[in-house]
Amino acid sequence: MKAFTILGLESSCDETSLAILKVSTSSVDILHHETATQIPIHQRYGGVVPEVAARTHVAEILSLLDRATLFPKPKVDAIAVTQGPGLATALRVGIETARAMSFASGIPTIGVNHLEGHLASAWLVKENRAQWKFPILALLVSGGHTELVLIKDFCSYRVVGRTRDDAAGEAFDKTAKLMGLGYPGGPILSQSALNGDSTAFDLPRPMFHDKSFDFSFSGLKTAVRNTWEGLSPKKQKDESVRNDLCASIQEAIVDVLVKKTLAAARKYHPTAVCIVGGVSANRHLNDVMSQTLSRELGIRVLEPAKGLHTDNAAMIAAAGAWHFERKKLSDWKKLDAKPELDL
Ligand code: KG4
Ligand code: ZN
Repeated sequence: MKAFTILGLESSCDETSLAILKVSTSSVDILHHETATQIPIHQRYGGVVPEVAARTHVAEILSLLDRATLFPKPKVDAIAVTQGPGLATALRVGIETARAMSFASGIPTIGVNHLEGHLASAWLVKENRAQWKFPILALLVSGGHTELVLIKDFCSYRVVGRTRDDAAGEAFDKTAKLMGLGYPGGPILSQSALNGDSTAFDLPRPMFHDKSFDFSFSGLKTAVRNTWEGLSPKKQKDESVRNDLCASIQEAIVDVLVKKTLAAARKYHPTAVCIVGGVSANRHLNDVMSQTLSRELGIRVLEPAKGLHTDNAAMIAAAGAWHFERKKLSDWKKLDAKPELDL
């Protein structure tokens, strides 16, 4: 394979991100990577406001391109851009930028599925690439998705389980919000959980005994709301009580994620399990998953590099590289946002 460079653009939610990857037979190097996070902006509203997100992407994306010295002529072989799923107006910012660049330079564009990008985030790690033998089972846990995916080959997937309501990240975000902990809930709640007792509150494990590999987290959210509203104002302000509740919530979510992943691994016999998406940044999830899979099945858990669990453009460029190598290019004239795209 001839070495090539690929530009990645990500703007599906609340991060504007740009990366340039160099891919050869022996290595994958991130030559440049910059992410402009909008988290401080959306924190004021307690969640992502789509119109604000889109306007902020517009304000950020050209400066990112400028700092990556991609003007006037981008020296890359392809442009990979997130096509969906995500917020329609936010996605369009990245897509229109890629289209304009393709139009002006003739460089081909590749529309990338954001979920495939998350899968590719684990492949970006050199040690993980050495273990990248199919089939691989992936637990994709983010703010919008919770899916168990069988990676059969590059660009070939089968979703074997998914959430029927809220995503795991939403379970973190919504329960943290109702406890008044702020946004995004995952990192804040898991930090408080470090000092709490995970057995203090008895919370439900939805779909725990169901034979499918599907998930459901809305019942947990309701149980947490009832528990929280049942506490006296004095207890709600008590830091140790709050830490205990955070630890109990995290334990309930991790329990379900690990049990379902183990059951799916028993059925599909993957060579490895990878956990990707924002929630895979959770250390407790990683620890329990690694211990369980190694003890029960002797298989390894592969995760993205630090900082690449949440949305970023390096993973979009990586998934774009899989397509570029297989000559799967998009027609930039027809490229449009696909807010509901699935794997
Ligand atoms: O992948 P991502 O950046 O965006 C989507 O594609 O949705 O994931 C964001 C989600 C949020 O719900 C956030 O609360 C969660 O990832 N998250 C975490 C942690 N860090 C981020 N959840 C649990 N523990 C964490 N350490
Ligand atoms: Zn994501």
